[in-house]
Amino acid sequence: MTDCCVADLSLAPSGWGKIEWARRGMKVLSILEEHHRPDRPFKGLTIGVCLHLEAKTACLLLTFKALGATVAAAGSNPLSTQDDVCAALAEAGILVYSRHGMDAEEYADHLRCVAAAEPQILIDDGCDLVALIHEEYRHLLPTIRGGSEETTTGIKRLRAMADEGCLAFPMIAVNDAYSKYLFDNRYGTGQSVMDGLLRTTNLLVAGKTFVVAGYGWCGKGVARRASGLGARVVVVEIDPHRALEAHMDGFQVLDMGAASGMGDFFVTVTGNRDVIRGEHFRRMKDGAVLANAGHFDVEIAIPDLRALSVSSRRDKVNVESFEMADGKRIHLLAQGRLVNLAAGDGHPVEIMDLSFASQLLAALHVSREKLPRGLHPLPESLDREVALLALEAWGLRLESLTAEQERYMKEWRE
Ligand code: ADE
Repeated sequence: MTDCCVADLSLAPSGWGKIEWARRGMKVLSILEEHHRPDRPFKGLTIGVCLHLEAKTACLLLTFKALGATVAAAGSNPLSTQDDVCAALAEAGILVYSRHGMDAEEYADHLRCVAAAEPQILIDDGCDLVALIHEEYRHLLPTIRGGSEETTTGIKRLRAMADEGCLAFPMIAVNDAYSKYLFDNRYGTGQSVMDGLLRTTNLLVAGKTFVVAGYGWCGKGVARRASGLGARVVVVEIDPHRALEAHMDGFQVLDMGAASGMGDFFVTVTGNRDVIRGEHFRRMKDGAVLANAGHFDVEIAIPDLRALSVSSRRDKVNVESFEMADGKRIHLLAQGRLVNLAAGDGHPVEIMDLSFASQLLAALHVSREKLPRGLHPLPESLDREVALLALEAWGLRLESLTAEQERYMKEWRE
């Protein structure tokens, strides 16, 4: 057993069960592991990780280890960490530092434990690990070869660092690869948000009004699944093209002021703060259910909700019900944290297979190439490799061009 900080090592058997289940569905990651294992490309390298520590992530970490890396991992959200999975990872020799329900101080300490392992490669989800190393562990900057970022919010922060000229090593924006956002953000978030919401509330969606704030790829996924379950979907968006897109996709488009009085369910997926705030809570119907699917728990202004309420109670796991002075109740799911991970198991297995295959290829890429500091896309050839492997693994066939068609596509006279 190596250095670790987990809730309870005796939970490992349950963690292994979850990991084995996930691994069976992660065919692309398994193919890549098999392919690269003989070379042990990460031998002598330490990979520092800040990801949601659940079973699919464990499969990625075990692949890193199988390819020769020392892996030090912290959880990227206090409520997404699954203690049994962490116990199994510790048993497997991963340096794992996380506990479900940890507070902000403990969370920061766990990131510091990862930094203390002196990683050369970083895999981040939300940019907290990269930011911490730039602030408190600057002596490590010259030895870091680079890393990759999983999510939209993390890339927004990395872009701000790059714009300020302070991002000290290359980071691959895995989120922006086709193999990631087209599937993970849209189908992954679409399914896993509904899963978290339904498991937690056990309420009917059909016939209800479902407000989705944000119509990026994640919002599109949530809106489509809510509609598929029979809801009337209202989209709230600040971008004119996305708002038009939502309109033509068949959804009502309103501002939050108008939508707040109509919704039975509200899901925020914007990446911004205070998207639903005091003025909106005041207009809400009795029984409104609020959930967030953005990376940080700032999209629903919970301090406003507390200030407006006369009392709050938790009758059900992951549901806090706030009572207003007029007797109206508003229910907040999973403390306003990512509902799909805090009240569920995150994205489906096959989806994370694609995302983590991209992460693996990104890590291999930064370990081999001397990239300039800054934010980089996942190279197109690697993005394509993930899609091709998935097609093969899932038994799907691509059409190919005839020689005449190839020629025609390069012709301009004809
Ligand atoms: N499981 C692991 N990481 C995840 C993520 N970023 N989103 C959803 N599910 C996940």
